[in-house]
Amino acid sequence: MFKSSTRDIPEAVAVPRHIAIIMDGNGRWAKKRFLPRMAGHKQGVETVREVVKACTGFGVEYLTLFAFSSENWRRPEEEVSFLMNLFLAALEREVDKLHQNGIRLRLIGRRDRFSPAIVRMIESAEARTAANTKLTLTIAADYGGRWDMLNATQSLLRERPELAQQGFGEEELAPHLAMAYAPEPDLFIRTGGEQRISNFLLWQLAYSELYFTELLWPDFGRDALLEAIHSYQNRERRFGRTSEQLRGESPSC
Ligand code: IPE
Ligand code: IPE
Ligand code: MG
Repeated sequence: MFKSSTRDIPEAVAVPRHIAIIMDGNGRWAKKRFLPRMAGHKQGVETVREVVKACTGFGVEYLTLFAFSSENWRRPEEEVSFLMNLFLAALEREVDKLHQNGIRLRLIGRRDRFSPAIVRMIESAEARTAANTKLTLTIAADYGGRWDMLNATQSLLRERPELAQQGFGEEELAPHLAMAYAPEPDLFIRTGGEQRISNFLLWQLAYSELYFTELLWPDFGRDALLEAIHSYQNRERRFGRTSEQLRGESPSC
């Protein structure tokens, strides 16, 4: 069903239903240890495992991880190809375990720039875990927020060309966005100290609570996630309203 933070007021929940994370800082983690950047990416996969496990324990329903942005193709060829191989190996190794733990795996982003082996692996992992309901783990790979919005618009107009003249609203566009199956993220986390969105879920983060930590992604884990959730629990999510309204008080103006 169509749910939008700008059209309805989402229910405030103590444990975020949807957490979206920019996993940043792998390269710096490695550099600090005089290791190649690739060692940081490898260690980052361990953190993914820990965070997925923690989310199932906390009762989070959707976890979305930014693994490779549409701009990450600009990195040295050697690093891009290492990341692709790591991605494929992690998929091959982890899908069984995800499935056993009731986790549904989904990928968002362009698929036409991946190798056929990766695309096949993605499709089979998605099909295999499609009926799982404990946690939906979404990996954003070759994903960009601008691509998502453009892609959704093109897809909508292909389906209903008459709307190019008539115009359309959120209700029409939203089902074509990459994350149409999930509520908007309640909590956004970025590790690695940078305070930017880097073309992640531009549309979907409209009213997410933002949390930035200096911790580098390989140093992030269950306790750090809990700290982020505690910070989220202390936020007042107003969605455009006043504090007085939230507390049910009469207007003071
Ligand atoms: C995040 O870590 C992983 C990807 C973008 C694939 P980085 O590789 O960006 O690490 P830093 O930011 O250089 O430390
Ligand atoms: C964002 O990290 C993308 C991912 C974590 C996949 P980057 O390291 O690519 O972001 P910038 O370049 O510092 O903004
Ligand atoms: Mg980075």
